[in-house]
Amino acid sequence: METKAKGMFITGTDTGVGKTVVAAAIARYLSRKGYAVGVLKPVTSGGVKRGDSLVSQDAELLRWASGCTAPCHITSPYVFREPIAPSEAAHRVGREIGFEPIREAYEQLSLSHELVIVEGAGGLLVPLGPDLLVADLPARLGLPLLIVSRPDLGTVNHTLMTCECALSRHIRTLGIVINGRSDSPAGAEEYAPRLIAELSPVPFLGALPRMTSSDEKDLVEKLAPAVAHMRIETLLALEVKHA
Ligand SMILES: Nc1ncnc2c1ncn2[C@@H]1O[C@H](COP(=O)(O)OP(=O)(O)OP(=O)(O)O)[C@@H](O)[C@H]1O
Ligand SMILES: [Mg+2]
Repeated sequence: METKAKGMFITGTDTGVGKTVVAAAIARYLSRKGYAVGVLKPVTSGGVKRGDSLVSQDAELLRWASGCTAPCHITSPYVFREPIAPSEAAHRVGREIGFEPIREAYEQLSLSHELVIVEGAGGLLVPLGPDLLVADLPARLGLPLLIVSRPDLGTVNHTLMTCECALSRHIRTLGIVINGRSDSPAGAEEYAPRLIAELSPVPFLGALPRMTSSDEKDLVEKLAPAVAHMRIETLLALEVKHA
């Protein structure tokens, strides 16, 4: 019998918290270790025109980071032009986002990779379609969550609410990563990791630093080594590789 690839679903407490960058850093780290990593960005709004195609820049970064060469219609099945809520972006062009195409893309990727990293859109309760929320994707694909949080004021509340949401929907959560913490944290940046570690019902995996970088690829290269401290291989029970 074929063994199903392992995977994780990267969600955020909000839009713009660093889901793509963290997902790409994890993908880069694991592909460097020798794992065959597939990537999936099921729904993108704010896609960019390249020739005749509309492409997902998030998926492009994830593909580069992982080395995944699956066709774009598999790694980013739904791409919409307007940078607005996905269900609305779809509605405005007369389309509807459904679960089946996303499940098919995920299944294809898991056939040809050891591990599939999936990036959500916004946070867990973002509506995708008439009867589909972002939270339904990890729940129905059977994927554990990784929660990416902001480092600053408000993050304790947003992070704990995201944990509660996952818990109430019976979605297993691997842990929480704070992204973009300053080297010399002050105010909430200083105490939020401790409060989150104390109060959250899931493991706090650490904080990734705020970096200055020339572009997104450079940023991912700089963050990838920090992923080593997050124990991703252990959390996903991956076969040990020493590449
Ligand atoms: N650790 C970091 N240091 C510096 N800049 C960062 C860091 N993490 C993310 N950024 C920057 O913050 C912005 C948002 O990050 P990113 O696109 O990964 O967020 P996102 O949660 O995936 O957003 P979306 O909801 O649009 O998918 C990007 O411009 C990215 O380069
Ligand atoms: Mg993103």
